Amino acid sequence: MSRGTVARLVSGVVLATAAGVVPALGQAPTTPASVLEQRLAAAEAASDWNAALAAALLLDEHAEQQHVESLYRVAQLHARLGNRDAACEYLERVSQAGLFDVSRVRRDEAFAAMRDDERFKAATRKIWFRGYLWLLERPERDSYQQPERVMATLAFRPGERVADVGAGSGYFARRVAKAVGPTGIVWAIDIGPEVLAYLDQRARAEGLTNIKTQQVERDDPRLPTGGVDTILMVDTLHYIKDRGRYAKTLRAGLAPGGRVVVIDFIFKPIEERPWGPPPEQKMSREEVDAAMAEAGLVPVRVHEFLTEQFFVEYRAREEVR
Ligand SMILES: C[S@@+](CC[C@H](N)C(=O)[O-])C[C@H]1O[C@@H](n2cnc3c(N)ncnc32)[C@H](O)[C@@H]1O
Repeated sequence: MSRGTVARLVSGVVLATAAGVVPALGQAPTTPASVLEQRLAAAEAASDWNAALAAALLLDEHAEQQHVESLYRVAQLHARLGNRDAACEYLERVSQAGLFDVSRVRRDEAFAAMRDDERFKAATRKIWFRGYLWLLERPERDSYQQPERVMATLAFRPGERVADVGAGSGYFARRVAKAVGPTGIVWAIDIGPEVLAYLDQRARAEGLTNIKTQQVERDDPRLPTGGVDTILMVDTLHYIKDRGRYAKTLRAGLAPGGRVVVIDFIFKPIEERPWGPPPEQKMSREEVDAAMAEAGLVPVRVHEFLTEQFFVEYRAREEVR
């Protein structure tokens, strides 16, 4: 915030205090929230951002806890006033208070002038990440994902070496780590540093010492050659553009008798399922079969119980009689 802005704000606040609007430090605000809402709306309509900010800050004090909407308004007004540090600081607080919808922030005109600002990008990335984490870990996911049934179907053995490619927050990697036990290993592979840091921390907290996180580039999961018994890809293959070439890198990582397991979204129009991969990333099971075939991998078991995803196990053609 510039000195001029601070001075204007402070003088506004001093005037407001004299008028009995702003409480002394440590006191509860005395102006009713409804009055402040009116004042804020009038100031916004007149593009008087300083007055709007003063009202929004008072409204935020009214909120019993860190309230997403009141904090968001303060962030917007700081942005309109060109107080970029303060805007980012408030965006961070909004994120901690539970704002997950990063597209709202990215589309919002109030932040238009800040879109190329590195601090803004970092703040919005944090909001995006919290939302992403919620999507992966939300308890409601279990109802369509059926993780326990998936795990029972895959019947991992103690000591098994597993690569979870596109492991994300570890929704499956953590379960697999428990199933393969201390003599097994799970390489949790991903391109995202934030999810891997989260997974590392969570694995440590849960005492899962057999999870090894590995950050990779998009086109190469860097699997140990011939060293993996099961390669698991859940909701990840649709991100890969050249799937035939990628399947060959998977094949190179498979140990004799190993398998590649793919679980990914069944094609559904956006009106029917507004979440999941965007239309340009959606792929059919037949496309996956074709990509795997390029690497000499064929479907050996197809499981039909998931309602949103197909679930297929592939093995090397020459190992299948
Ligand atoms: C939708 S999430 C699924 C995460 C996890 N498999 C699950 O089921 O919860 C997809 C993950 O794949 C990762 N990802 C995308 N493209 C990738 C690539 N080319 N190589 C490795 N990981 C990738 C993303 O960063 C993200 O964490």
